[in-house]
Amino acid sequence: MQEIYRDEFWAQLNFWSKKISPCTILEIGGGTGDGSTTAFFDAINSGSKVYSVEARLERFQELKKKPVEALYGCSVSAGDYMTKSQVKDFYKTIKTTLNNNPLKVVLGWRKEELRTVKDLPQNVIKDIHAEFVFIDGSPFTGQKEFYYSVEQNPMIKIIALDDVNDIKNFHNYWQLCTSTQWERVWENLTLRNGAAIFMKKS
Ligand SMILES: C[S@@+](CC[C@H](N)C(=O)[O-])C[C@H]1O[C@@H](n2cnc3c(N)ncnc32)[C@H](O)[C@@H]1O
Repeated sequence: MQEIYRDEFWAQLNFWSKKISPCTILEIGGGTGDGSTTAFFDAINSGSKVYSVEARLERFQELKKKPVEALYGCSVSAGDYMTKSQVKDFYKTIKTTLNNNPLKVVLGWRKEELRTVKDLPQNVIKDIHAEFVFIDGSPFTGQKEFYYSVEQNPMIKIIALDDVNDIKNFHNYWQLCTSTQWERVWENLTLRNGAAIFMKKS
């Protein structure tokens, strides 16, 4: 797992979360809490609450030692995962860094994830209305997470996306770029698989 730690994206997560503090932050894909989660520690110190979701038990065990509300389970439901044919279509029609991996390997990741997440608590993010949302979970659930945590969320002010040049957040990134309701406040498309932050226009 590649952690976001003390790079340009980390600094921007830190800056924008402090800027709207105190607020509620939702981090999807917290990992062990030693990477991107630490960017929110300053916001926590100024009164913000961070919900951080993680599906792997061994990572969650570390995450829950951090000063966040650590949530164990699958962000959405196993039925919300992209289907095999949706993954194949994306792979064949949109050239992203995903194509650095053979399609067979990518489909294997999806199969393996589904095998493990179906037995976990489901829909962990559904009732959280955060003002700041960071999507960095499974490659195969980014659009559904966006739907529940951004589109269905009247509180949303800031959305941060990792892997915008990959299957995880490609469509979310372009939806926000072409929307009149959102302003892109930062991006770096050459940092790993690209990352960006958007602010809702008032
Ligand atoms: C790229 S890593 C996150 C890295 C983290 N943001 C950091 O910088 O330290 C993605 C994380 O999402 C978790 N994950 C994958 N699918 C998930 C799901 N459906 N629900 C919640 N977490 C998930 C993985 O176990 C993994 O720890």
